[in-house]
Amino acid sequence: MIRNILCIGAGYVGGPTMALIADRCPDVRLTVVDTNPDKIAQWNSERLPVFEPGLDAIVRRARGRNLFFAPITPQAIADADLIFICVNTPTKEYGEGAGMAADLQYWEKSTRTILAHARPGTIVVEKSTVPVRTAEAVSRILNLNPDGTKYQVLSNPEFLSEGTAIRDLAAPDRVLIGSERSVEGLAAAHELGWVYEHWVPKDRIVYTSVWSAELSKLAANALLAQRISSINAIAAVCERTDADVTEISRAIGMDPRIGGRFLDAGVGFGGSCFRKDILNLAYLCGEAGLGEVAQYWLSVVHMNDYRISRFVKGILDHLFNTVADKKLAIFGFSFKPETNDVRDAPAIRICTRLLQEQARLAISDPQALENARRALAGLPGQADERVAYEPDPYRAASDADAVVLVTQWPQFKALDYERIYASMKKPAFVFDGRNLLDHERLYGIGFNVVAIGKSPRLHF
Ligand code: UDX
Ligand code: UDX
Repeated sequence: MIRNILCIGAGYVGGPTMALIADRCPDVRLTVVDTNPDKIAQWNSERLPVFEPGLDAIVRRARGRNLFFAPITPQAIADADLIFICVNTPTKEYGEGAGMAADLQYWEKSTRTILAHARPGTIVVEKSTVPVRTAEAVSRILNLNPDGTKYQVLSNPEFLSEGTAIRDLAAPDRVLIGSERSVEGLAAAHELGWVYEHWVPKDRIVYTSVWSAELSKLAANALLAQRISSINAIAAVCERTDADVTEISRAIGMDPRIGGRFLDAGVGFGGSCFRKDILNLAYLCGEAGLGEVAQYWLSVVHMNDYRISRFVKGILDHLFNTVADKKLAIFGFSFKPETNDVRDAPAIRICTRLLQEQARLAISDPQALENARRALAGLPGQADERVAYEPDPYRAASDADAVVLVTQWPQFKALDYERIYASMKKPAFVFDGRNLLDHERLYGIGFNVVAIGKSPRLHF
């Protein structure tokens, strides 16, 4: 029976996931630990380190009742019946597989800490996305102990999307639990299943082998990213042929075999998962001698990079081939709306490129300005001095040559663009990197409008 759950890693995945479990399972005690003491302090404060709609309310309800954020101690590990590992698995930046493979050092450290203090029979669950066969490696480390204690290692990948994390956790499409096919393995899988059954219908809890669960996560992210690169490739064709990518997405999305979601053309995908997981998948393929398969998936990342550089090139072309000393208002910095997360955000590359071109930037974002400042700190050529972080989008746009919309926060759609137009230099441009705005209206106000996968609307 699971009464005590420990989670190692209080990040974007660990924090919200454990908060939701605590909310739905009042009979289970959850402790979330992290090697970074600041993270723990933030989770215990009024200002949580993660912004997610609905998160504050559930943390407030459960914190101090059956949800605890605390430093890691041997006792906390010894008390746990089940331990989630939610530490990050970034792309490796050194040595073998640099730039492609997942860096598993935090994983291994966590495993060894568990080994030192856990009780026999503790169930270990990998939640972070990891290369296929990581659970096997973890299992090997845990089960090579001299006293013969056996630990079950499960794979329970998390499919939540940022910005809708609480909604996704509360009503998941599926919960995937991978285990060894042995009696002990299946028993452990069903113990974890019991936790989810507090709020997830039984038929949505899918039991598979450990490796299928691990690969399903990589495959899901690779297929989602591939759809985005596919529609972005079509968008480039539209820009050359006067077709409109929004019309195309709608038309093809009505085919139930294709479906309408994840067909929004834009400045490309960002976030902590898509690029990292595809690189990781491609690395695994390469290691397995499947070079063609690796190349296939890498082309999804290449198309994404191309989309970002094509967008920046479009800005330069339309602004008469120079943005040096021009003020550009950047609307949105987070990798998608409703989050403060800027990991691999297209905005980082777009802003970096524009700063290399000597532009002056006024960046506005409802939640991500602190993270934006950190992400752009220390660029060469005193670039810092040419960036302003401006919560008020009207001030960001005032006196600017162009508005560059990078993230489709709904707030940006609701702005008074007549007022914005009046305050800008002329000719005034809008570069809509997400096809969020009403382009006809903007054109009518006087803007020159350049959007993804559409013919530009220019007054000259
Ligand atoms: C996610 C997912 O878990 C993973 O699937 C994906 O592959 C990468 O990102 P996320 O929660 O978004 O992880 O990462 P992050 O917000 O960076 O949180 C990880 C936390 O683990 C950090 O707070 C970090 O301090 C902590 N950590 C890291 C430990 O507690 N111990 C370690 O050894 C390393
Ligand atoms: C993704 C997966 O959706 C989720 O299942 C997994 O657990 C983690 O990775 P996330 O990265 O939070 O979630 O966001 P997602 O909504 O998938 O968006 C990723 C990126 O793709 C964003 O930058 C978004 O702007 C972009 N995107 C998404 C598009 O460009 N077009 C689309 O049609 C959809």
